[in-house]
Amino acid sequence: MDQAAAMRENKKDETVSAARRKRRTGDVRVIAVTSGKGGVGKTNITVNFAYLLAKMGKKALLLDADAGLANIDVILGIAPQFNLCHLLRGEKTLSDIIVEGPGGIRILPSASGIQEMAELSKGHKLTLLDELEGLDEDIDFMLIDTAAGITGNVLYFNMAAKEVIVVVSTEPTSLTDAYALIKILYQGYRTQRFMLIVNMAKDASEARGVYQRLNNATNHFLGFPIEYLGHIPHDQNVAKAVKSQKLLAEKFPDSKATKQMSEIVEKLCRKGPDEYENGTIKFFDRSVVGSNGQ
Ligand SMILES: Nc1ncnc2c1ncn2[C@@H]1O[C@H](COP(=O)(O)OP(=O)(O)O)[C@@H](O)[C@H]1O
Ligand SMILES: [Mg+2]
Repeated sequence: MDQAAAMRENKKDETVSAARRKRRTGDVRVIAVTSGKGGVGKTNITVNFAYLLAKMGKKALLLDADAGLANIDVILGIAPQFNLCHLLRGEKTLSDIIVEGPGGIRILPSASGIQEMAELSKGHKLTLLDELEGLDEDIDFMLIDTAAGITGNVLYFNMAAKEVIVVVSTEPTSLTDAYALIKILYQGYRTQRFMLIVNMAKDASEARGVYQRLNNATNHFLGFPIEYLGHIPHDQNVAKAVKSQKLLAEKFPDSKATKQMSEIVEKLCRKGPDEYENGTIKFFDRSVVGSNGQ
């Protein structure tokens, strides 16, 4: 038995800690941040949200699930020694690979450009679930930064998470791609709870127009509405922060984009778990492993 497997065996014998119990009873909000089109700001939003949650006293774990092209580490200017790859190969446990980011956020780093990560197998997904459920850390929020598009991994993380935030920009292509993703998640997996963020908007009214267009389409063609979380304005401080590999919310706390992000995060926190699920929430939905044929 290798070291990681032995460690897992030991864990099984331990009594269930409060942190694990919390996850089993569903008191952890698991939110996937996703988009149809790439480059709409998912990674920036997810990382800054985790930081803002931490500022509000909530413990956030960030999962870099853009397994083919990970970049949370690049945005934060950190170089984690281990990543998801080591976990899935059984070489390390989850606690070995989690690193601490700004404001005390916990980050589960991924690896860029590794083929086996781009399409996780059923075995990999189960390993990840086992590790997440067994993790001995007290967390309130798990934010999942997914890849763009409609690949198996993206669909998987969106199905497994209990809440899905869809990010769009104001470009028509980002809207049509978002609609395509929502349609697939609904028709294939009956996901019906989508929250929208319009990023890089000129102002609130432009953003609301974008939301209304998408909401009209889901109402009309799929028969359900999507929820509007809010907008983040186009703000050159975002690009400046990315270039300097610092977090926007940390480097430019008074910027327009940070202020809007804070508002959205506060809104998210106000939504109690009861509002988004019927009391049968599990930490991560195990039943979806393999349901997309993998
Ligand atoms: N609100 C914003 N204002 C200006 N530029 C932004 C904004 N959000 C994102 N960007 C730009 O878009 C780029 C892509 O963002 P990123 O978070 O990496 O997108 P994704 O994860 O969806 O591919 C960033 O590097 C940044 O330059
Ligand atoms: Mg990204």
